[in-house]
Amino acid sequence: MLLPIIDLDIYRSQSLDSPAVVEECNKAAEALITYGALLLRDSRVSEDDNATFLDLLEDYFSQPISDLQKDERPEVGYQVGVTLENTEKPKCAVDEPCLSVISRLEPDQRPLDITAHQPDPKCRFFWRMGAMPPYDTQFPALNASNVVPQAESLKDRWAPTMEKWGSAMKSAVEGLAQMTAIGLGLPQETFTDAGKYGPHLLAPTASDLVKYKEKDTILAGFHTDLNFLTIHGRSRYPGLHIWARNSGKRILVRFPPTGRYLLVQAGKQLEHLSGGLIKAGYHEVVVNESTVETIERRKSEFPDRPLIRISSTFFWHLSSDYDLAPIPSLAKRSNDTKVQSSNMGISTGELEDTIYEPMKVGQQVQNELKHIKLMA
Ligand SMILES: [Fe+2]
Repeated sequence: MLLPIIDLDIYRSQSLDSPAVVEECNKAAEALITYGALLLRDSRVSEDDNATFLDLLEDYFSQPISDLQKDERPEVGYQVGVTLENTEKPKCAVDEPCLSVISRLEPDQRPLDITAHQPDPKCRFFWRMGAMPPYDTQFPALNASNVVPQAESLKDRWAPTMEKWGSAMKSAVEGLAQMTAIGLGLPQETFTDAGKYGPHLLAPTASDLVKYKEKDTILAGFHTDLNFLTIHGRSRYPGLHIWARNSGKRILVRFPPTGRYLLVQAGKQLEHLSGGLIKAGYHEVVVNESTVETIERRKSEFPDRPLIRISSTFFWHLSSDYDLAPIPSLAKRSNDTKVQSSNMGISTGELEDTIYEPMKVGQQVQNELKHIKLMA
């Protein structure tokens, strides 16, 4: 199954009232409502910048653990700097509603079994992108200053590389956020204003493929993301599976072999703000058959490079001090859709009522971080 492809170039190159732009914006909103995910085409995205970024992160994560530990910041819930393996726990492993989502999937479409899964064997680095709030935030821990690794071979190229790739991803996902707002019948800046001072994070994960190379190893267990929209560049190793809402089908993410594409998935903040009209998308990262083949191929093609799977991930957030509550027009549409779905006899396992309590975005983030064991 192929995800819908949304063309950011059309949006960026034509006036807002042109029929092509209107159509593309509607397509973006529909894709997120139906699948919770889409492929975004942006001709500005440079595969070379992605490669430079992946090289830097492979080098970083091949350092001795004692060097990596210097970049840990548990006191701010690991929201900047490094998170080492076996720290974060996939929320789903202990979460009743999530286990029931799994049980309602056809057995051959289920994720790898996470009930016995310990914390994820993945590492991650968080690099904050974008402007700090110009006011006193209620959530200073979520808005901490960046950590720059101190190794001689890394420190000078770190910030420029992270900023270059991170800015490309940020600009692309903000374009899509505006397209989605228009497609949902809202003012263009609705989401980008709400996320103007969001703690957006360039968030590469790293999985050691020397240690974790067996087929069906879970690198990141089945979960949804807590932020607004997540955008991914191409990883060098396959292994990301996503579940499209309303289809119940597991999709192995493959980027078109050429062209500038990014994968976007909806997160919890968008689900909350849309009153459940758009649902956060489930995904997992595992060692699958294609991962194993790619490991063997890269071993012979690049024998000197570290065997580490880096994900090229960026989390776009709403501002921590923003009041998170369903937008009435979207909440109404969400309810109407639920009625229609029930009438059609579709049991997606998502028809139960979720209550989206109003709260600050920072509160929602802290609640989620406690669940996944990053915050006490
Ligand atoms: Fe995720």
